[in-house]
Amino acid sequence: MNCESSPENKIEMEERQMAMIIDGKKISTQIKDELKEKVEKYKKNGVNICLAVIQVGDNPASTVYVGNKKKACAYIGMESQAYELPEETTEEELLDLVKKLNQDEKVNGILVQLPLPNHINEDLVIQTISPKKDVDGFHPQSVGALSIGQPGFVSCTPAGIIELLKRSDISIDGKECVVIGRSNIVGKPMALLLLRENGTVTVCHSHTKDMKEVTKRADILIVAIGRAKFIDESYIKEGAVVIDVGMNRDENGKLCGDVDFEAVKDKVSAITPVPGGVGPMTIAMLMYNCVKAATAE
Ligand code: GUN
Repeated sequence: MNCESSPENKIEMEERQMAMIIDGKKISTQIKDELKEKVEKYKKNGVNICLAVIQVGDNPASTVYVGNKKKACAYIGMESQAYELPEETTEEELLDLVKKLNQDEKVNGILVQLPLPNHINEDLVIQTISPKKDVDGFHPQSVGALSIGQPGFVSCTPAGIIELLKRSDISIDGKECVVIGRSNIVGKPMALLLLRENGTVTVCHSHTKDMKEVTKRADILIVAIGRAKFIDESYIKEGAVVIDVGMNRDENGKLCGDVDFEAVKDKVSAITPVPGGVGPMTIAMLMYNCVKAATAE
């Protein structure tokens, strides 16, 4: 019998609830408002919190990201220091600035916006940031701590995704979690965080043989591949939760994710939109890390 056309199946389809659209903008504002209250309390006790943001060169996307980070600091009542350095800045000059900020007691967090120009070794710069001020969670010490379940700063995008799931009452414990993408910033820390929450975790990447076969097992699918609308309904199990980390432009120049939202929205139980899903959470978690850096909570 063809199950797809059976009457029982039709009824089930009609009764199926609409997907929950996870509102990252709203949840990120909740988090920032909670932080704002905390920052106010600290201020009353004479504790000011400050993030130093360094940008080298004038990559337009980086300028937008850095601007948003400064705005978020102002929103929660934190100070920010902006270092806008020219493209020709040498590696030594940048390292000297990072070392100076490491020593500066007024600065609680240091963020060097990536990517850096090709003549600067990114790994070396990240390793030079004091782990105590590593609010991006990119330092090898922070990554190592995460991998063995010790406290430390966690990369903001994957930390934000865990927060999105928790605040949407989506349990991770025992779930089949599939992460597409293995970057140091998203895929790898995402897998570790899902594991920490007792998920059963699989990571797919460009060498994965049959990706659909893996993704169709996922109760929770996290997509971070950087290809516009790559994931359609054929990759997805009915009722899955889909988190889209992508930020791309479609053929009409409109912002879109790695997931074809329209194609999958009737098959999933919950999904993040682009924009307004994961993106705002990254900055909220950066603010969370800054407050943590200043208050050691
Ligand atoms: N470039 C793109 N995303 C990020 C981020 O989260 N932190 C930094 N420092 N650079 C980035």
